Amino acid sequence: CNPGNPTGYLYSRDEIKKLAKIVKKYGLFLVADEVYREFTYDGREHYSIIQEEGLEDHAIIVDSVSKRYSMCGARIGYLVSKNKEVIKTAIKFAQARLSPPTYAQIAAEAALETPKSYFEAIKEEYVSRRDILISELSKLEGVVVARPQGAFYCIAQLPIKNADNFAQWLLEEFNVDGETVMVAPAAGFYATAGLGTNQVRIAYVLEKEDLIRAVHILKEALKAYPG
Ligand SMILES: Cc1ncc(COP(=O)(O)O)c(C=O)c1O
Repeated sequence: CNPGNPTGYLYSRDEIKKLAKIVKKYGLFLVADEVYREFTYDGREHYSIIQEEGLEDHAIIVDSVSKRYSMCGARIGYLVSKNKEVIKTAIKFAQARLSPPTYAQIAAEAALETPKSYFEAIKEEYVSRRDILISELSKLEGVVVARPQGAFYCIAQLPIKNADNFAQWLLEEFNVDGETVMVAPAAGFYATAGLGTNQVRIAYVLEKEDLIRAVHILKEALKAYPG
């Protein structure tokens, strides 16, 4: 996934080239979910696997309208590949099994007309949300957070043992003036069991003032957490 969910990591051109080399050497497919490709920050550009010369038969992009146009729930996604066999097989599967919703198809087609300026404005907004979230989180004692280069998520390490229990406690037992925060425990995103147990994913899809309030609630929660 590039840029990544849950980390917001953006692969460099060099990293894609290294992956391409391995893929070609061993005759593999390189499947990249690029649904966040417009959302790259700090002047960094997304380098798609489809841009990599010589990877035409190996590259499969997974894409969707849901993030690009804030149309989550539209259920319109697609595969992109220059490998004709892959597309032929995917079409057979799609015709046999799938039925994308009609209204979402119409809306998704209309969304393709969105001017480029929309993404400039959106990117600016996400950058300022990211900056506020990361700077607020960094002020909390025992919290470690990286600066994401794309998408709209970050992984934060918290001074707790088990993020599953903490996330549940936040929802069931904690509030500040009737409000709490919901975090996604990060362990489920790791391929290796036991990693990320003290980490959570936070999405910066809220307004800036709400993000500041959310981090304040998290700070109070970390102080009050018994476990
Ligand atoms: C990397 C990635 N791909 C795809 C999706 C979802 O796409 P869709 O809404 O089309 O199912 C998400 C949503 O969280 C995502 O993070």
